Amino acid sequence: MKIATLAALVASVPAVSAQLHALAKNAGLLYFGTAVGPGDSRDAPYYALSNDIKNFGQYTPDNAQKWDATEPQRGRFQYTQADAIVNRAIANKMIMRCHTLVWYSQLPSWVSSGSWTKDTMTSVMQTHISNVMGHFKSKCYAWDVVNEALEDNGTYRNNPFLKALGDSYFALSFKFAAAADPDTKLYYNDYNLEYFPVKADGAVRIVKLVQAAGVPIHGVGLQAHMTVGRTPSRSNLTWTLEKYTSLGLDVAYTELDVRIKPLPSNSSSLQAQAKEYEAIVGSCLDVPRCVGITVWGFGDAHSWIPQTFPGAGDSCLFDKNSKPKPAFSSVSAILASASGKRVPWGSKPTSLVSATSVVATSAPVVQTTVVMLPSKTSTKVAVTSVA
Ligand SMILES: *[C@@H]1O[C@H](CO)[C@@H](O)[C@H](O)[C@H]1NC(C)=O
Ligand SMILES: *[C@@H]1O[C@H](CO)[C@@H](O)[C@H](O)[C@H]1NC(C)=O
Ligand SMILES: *[C@@H]1O[C@H](CO)[C@@H](O)[C@H](O)[C@H]1NC(C)=O
Repeated sequence: MKIATLAALVASVPAVSAQLHALAKNAGLLYFGTAVGPGDSRDAPYYALSNDIKNFGQYTPDNAQKWDATEPQRGRFQYTQADAIVNRAIANKMIMRCHTLVWYSQLPSWVSSGSWTKDTMTSVMQTHISNVMGHFKSKCYAWDVVNEALEDNGTYRNNPFLKALGDSYFALSFKFAAAADPDTKLYYNDYNLEYFPVKADGAVRIVKLVQAAGVPIHGVGLQAHMTVGRTPSRSNLTWTLEKYTSLGLDVAYTELDVRIKPLPSNSSSLQAQAKEYEAIVGSCLDVPRCVGITVWGFGDAHSWIPQTFPGAGDSCLFDKNSKPKPAFSSVSAILASASGKRVPWGSKPTSLVSATSVVATSAPVVQTTVVMLPSKTSTKVAVTSVA
């Protein structure tokens, strides 16, 4: 073969790069995404990475769409911060996962300390859901409709919705959501489903309640706030995902991070973390209806973990200087190994959030300089630590 021909052949082979969303698309996922917040732009290298669709093809607002942000007083709706994030996604041609509607936490006191009857709570929920989803109509690929409704032992968490309505609040929430935006995917979202089979089965019960009411539910989001040394095996994680896909649902990892304790991390804990990230991403690749993976931020300087779990941290794919860690390499490698091997799940986003086709290029991962910031607001309340 002539050299010139060989060179032409080589040039026609798409270069593989370590860029998460591009690799995820090639592996048949809809997206690899990240949570984003209003403070991101204060760290220029971090912000640049967050706007790079080759790495992140999907956003979840960390706090901006929660009840206390969108309806702080009854009937007074505000969307400035959330609009800014959605507009970033539109400008970047990224998918939005929208988050969240019915949740016990970051709930304004007018809801949490109100005294509600069945009828008044129904009206409060319907008004909130229809306004918020109506405002973002056709801009969200998916919505986390009900969030964290379970205790780790699988019982229903006591909250104002359960108190007023009993377990009928699940189907009601999804019913109001389906009416407000019939084209978005409606999810139940929770943490520790990966760790506790009894909690995972609680989510199965919720799904079945909604389905039995004849109301649409399309997916279960597994938050995947994991801890190094305790992450289940890839096959065990796959087994959990299949609990939900066997009910006809999509699944997604929605808030992934893998925290290290004790700090400081060292080469062995960072390698263990890389292996555990690989198992989690691998389990998604093993399940045809696992649509995508979202990390809850991607830089150790901005994670919510150190504030919420004192003594734990370094939970992200990039370090405090936005430089890729071993976990970034292991996630890239496992995604690359699935390239072309996995049949993409058919549920495509609609309208403006159409999954932008991203071609892997040989462009290098953005290299960054040191910027340390105070932790971004992540007022999310502590999730139960796994003992
Ligand atoms: C489940 O856990 C919650 C929260 O810790 C607790 O209040 C409840 O009593 C537990 N229920 C059972 C049946 O163990
Ligand atoms: C996964 O782990 C849980 C908890 O340890 C266990 O109960 C379950 O049997 C495991 N399942 C599989 C398929 O390994
Ligand atoms: C890394 O940190 C862990 C946890 O503190 C410790 O047990 C281990 O000995 C350290 N390993 C190295 C190579 O320093």
